[in-house]
Amino acid sequence: MDTSEVQNIYTKKASYYQFLMVDFLGFGMAIEKFFREFNYVGPHFKILDAGCGTGNATRALYTIASEKGYEDVTFHAFDLTQAMLDLFQQWIKKVGANNIILKRSNVLDLEQLPSDWNGYDAVVSTAMLEHLPKDSVRPALRGLKQLLKHNGRLLVVITRRNIINKFIGWRWKNNTYDKNELQKIFLDGGFSEFKIRNFFWNFMFIIEAKNN
Ligand SMILES: C[S@@+](CC[C@H](N)C(=O)[O-])C[C@H]1O[C@@H](n2cnc3c(N)ncnc32)[C@H](O)[C@@H]1O
Repeated sequence: MDTSEVQNIYTKKASYYQFLMVDFLGFGMAIEKFFREFNYVGPHFKILDAGCGTGNATRALYTIASEKGYEDVTFHAFDLTQAMLDLFQQWIKKVGANNIILKRSNVLDLEQLPSDWNGYDAVVSTAMLEHLPKDSVRPALRGLKQLLKHNGRLLVVITRRNIINKFIGWRWKNNTYDKNELQKIFLDGGFSEFKIRNFFWNFMFIIEAKNN
């Protein structure tokens, strides 16, 4: 997909996306439930949210870390669309989080990130990679892998192929994937150990991959 087209959509629909997808349809709750079950945050963790949007994944991880008393966790997050980052920044201000740093950046241009944005325990990317042209997903995965520390975990949520998602994808400018395709993409992206699960009423896949 064309980056300026994607940016235009999320600039116009930033609040609508947060209201509809994250809050009303419960994508935010689903992500938080997953993170609680699979212990994505620990003391002293350094976590990157790639394509953070309004902060869905990082908000959940921050909430869990705060509940557990892990105050020394570092959160970095980037997104292509300033309007999405602005909403995320408002939330950061509201909760007084001083350990979340945001940057505007493209996942296909990771060298633009600050030089200390690497060595992550976990990199999460929820509902973002489907907006890339299909042949750009492998390089994006390779780039994100390089930001992980040894044995760090990459978590990807990506839209599954079905009739409904094809229609939604046409409106929101995203691709859809099936399991076999994802298996190949993750192998080509440099991951040898990963697990693909159904997620969010089978409308999405959640993939956990290890950097070993
Ligand atoms: C469906 S939203 C998901 C946002 C958030 N991760 C979530 O779970 O709610 C997709 C986001 O991906 C961002 N995005 C699309 N292409 C991108 C790229 N090449 N690099 C970084 N972010 C991108 C969009 O700006 C948008 O905020």
